[in-house]
Amino acid sequence: MKLIDYGVREDEKQYIEEWSEDNNIEVKILSELLTPETVELAKGFDGVVAYQQLPYDPSIFDKMNEYGIHVLSLRNVGVDNVPIDALKKNDIRLTNVPSYSPEAIAEYSVTGLMALLRNLKHMIRKVDQHDFDWAPDIGRELNQLTVGVAGTGRIGQAAIKIYEGFGAKVIAFDKYRNEELDKRGLYVNSLDELLKQSDVITLHLPSLGIGNTVINSKTISEMKDNAIVVNTGRGDLVNTADLYEAVVSGKLYGAVLDVYENEVGIFNNDLTDQDLEDKLLEKMIKSPRIIVTPHIAFYTTKAVKNMATVSLNSMVDELNTGKSTTEINLNK
Ligand code: COI
Repeated sequence: MKLIDYGVREDEKQYIEEWSEDNNIEVKILSELLTPETVELAKGFDGVVAYQQLPYDPSIFDKMNEYGIHVLSLRNVGVDNVPIDALKKNDIRLTNVPSYSPEAIAEYSVTGLMALLRNLKHMIRKVDQHDFDWAPDIGRELNQLTVGVAGTGRIGQAAIKIYEGFGAKVIAFDKYRNEELDKRGLYVNSLDELLKQSDVITLHLPSLGIGNTVINSKTISEMKDNAIVVNTGRGDLVNTADLYEAVVSGKLYGAVLDVYENEVGIFNNDLTDQDLEDKLLEKMIKSPRIIVTPHIAFYTTKAVKNMATVSLNSMVDELNTGKSTTEINLNK
């Protein structure tokens, strides 16, 4: 068996090399993304592994089919950039890594929130200028707040544990209820209800598709004054311009955005000393009440190792048995 792994970063390499040695399976490691130009490099391999934020072009899958490759294993969880119809047309199965570390994302949600509640962004900037004044950066305490968890999959559940550990009151919403949480009476009946009752909304939902935002001017108007939005899920869950206006107007206290609807091509790139064309992003970066980070909630050693190895294990299962536990049902 010969595998090819696209879009590999330096920090992933060692885990792939170790896996290759331990399993005695050849893996060609490429830093190039999987594109119509690079797919040719997969000729002669049995399976393609990849991760990228850039959309996968449908023509890639015609080529994979031509080369007799019928499995694509992603090193990440989100499949929103994969053209499912093109996979189906070419009889290509898809696997992802659904649970590389729910705790990594959940811990980051709390990290960002705590930083915002204690005004760390502004305080650190002040200290950098030798301004050691306390005021006006008085903090708020998490144990006094109601945290609304939108989405109670693995990440949402991990977030609930941590938020409850801090003494916050936690409420939740999900279309599909978790039995344990339901028994504990954590659920409210609708997303609207969650937004209305929460001091903090933390988003742990997948993308809802183009134009389907959870946070926008209409829903913000129903939220509590001084509420906070934390998004470590998907950028397109939030109408960012509406959110920014609500923070500037004082309706919302602030936001933590680890994902951003226009992040592709910006996040995980070093643009030091370059002007940003995206003026909204520029304004948010300047705001003391909006913490912007470049999609790093997942970025821990544990998660990166799991992404590298689980994707390869899934590929081996697919090639040996025609299925794996992380195969995505393309007909859903
Ligand atoms: C995903 O796994 O889909 C993520 O959002 C994390 C990614 C940046 C590797």
